[in-house]
Amino acid sequence: MAGEPNFGMPQAVSAAPASSPLSIEEFLRLPREFGWSYQHVDGCSLRTPQVIPIPARISTAQKKEASLAGVREPGPGDKTALADLYQAAFVGSRSYFGWGEDEVAEDAWHSVESFYEGERGEPDPSSRIALDSEGLAGAALVVRHREVPTLYLLFVSPARHRRGIGGALIIAVLQALRASGAPFLRSAFDGGDAAARAWYRAVGFVEEPSLPVALARLAWLRGEWERRGGSEEEGVAWRQEMRQLSDAIRCLTDLAKAKGSEAVYPDLTVWQRRWWPKRLRGS
Ligand SMILES: CC(C)(COP(=O)(O)OP(=O)(O)OC[C@H]1O[C@@H](n2cnc3c(N)ncnc32)[C@H](O)[C@@H]1OP(=O)(O)O)[C@@H](O)C(=O)NCCC(=O)NCCS
Repeated sequence: MAGEPNFGMPQAVSAAPASSPLSIEEFLRLPREFGWSYQHVDGCSLRTPQVIPIPARISTAQKKEASLAGVREPGPGDKTALADLYQAAFVGSRSYFGWGEDEVAEDAWHSVESFYEGERGEPDPSSRIALDSEGLAGAALVVRHREVPTLYLLFVSPARHRRGIGGALIIAVLQALRASGAPFLRSAFDGGDAAARAWYRAVGFVEEPSLPVALARLAWLRGEWERRGGSEEEGVAWRQEMRQLSDAIRCLTDLAKAKGSEAVYPDLTVWQRRWWPKRLRGS
């Protein structure tokens, strides 16, 4: 799954005026982000997401504080509000790149329904939703995937981002898991999604070992170095990072030999549907 393209229309990074289209040389010098592929089309730089799921986990032992007023377990009566909020949170996002609003709405309903129906694992009682005066503000829905508590869906109303709702939901989930004796919560985020990446790091998730992720990062670094070149000083830093990644890849390969490939190819099937390109998704 790592690195599979998302088959939507590419997104313009630089729409050059017709009088001065971007030259190939200028295109090649533009900065690029991990998790995107870039094309030069008609004098413009266009980009398409390359989803690289990064598995991560967080210990339930951490005891951060947050106001948990308005946070509770979801019930059967919350389904419609959850699907509506899911749609609002994900429409236009990388996960649904190239999807129309109706298609996202349908998938939102399907994703929420599959949580309630246990299609991705038994719904876990540590799941939490956050409500405020305007209604449903966010959700962290947890399933037991192969016995492991796994954050299946996480979303906050776009109008209420950066108010600590996502953080408060996770604190409430961890509290419930700790009480049930679970040592950690597992999740994964799209490595090219800067906001998700920042949130996961900020709340305390740590990355799990993953050979596909290490290989994708090394390939990206090598490609960037070849494309951009750079000063002697930059070269030292890049070479050091590439050496660290090569060492990590060697360790992960040894780990695979010793413990089997599952140790370095984390099981991400619980999130498969959302991260697969539209044309590969089933009904
Ligand atoms: C990811 C998401 C759930 C975060 O919810 P939130 O309630 O806005 O996040 P919080 O307020 O708890 O943020 C906690 C910290 O995470 C980091 N963070 C969150 N969003 C960020 C962003 N867009 N850019 C940079 N850092 C961000 C910040 O460090 C933030 O602390 P600060 O606001 O004091 O700087 C929300 O952005 C969302 O619903 N996104 C769309 C759906 C999605 O991507 N879900 C995750 C799928 S893997």
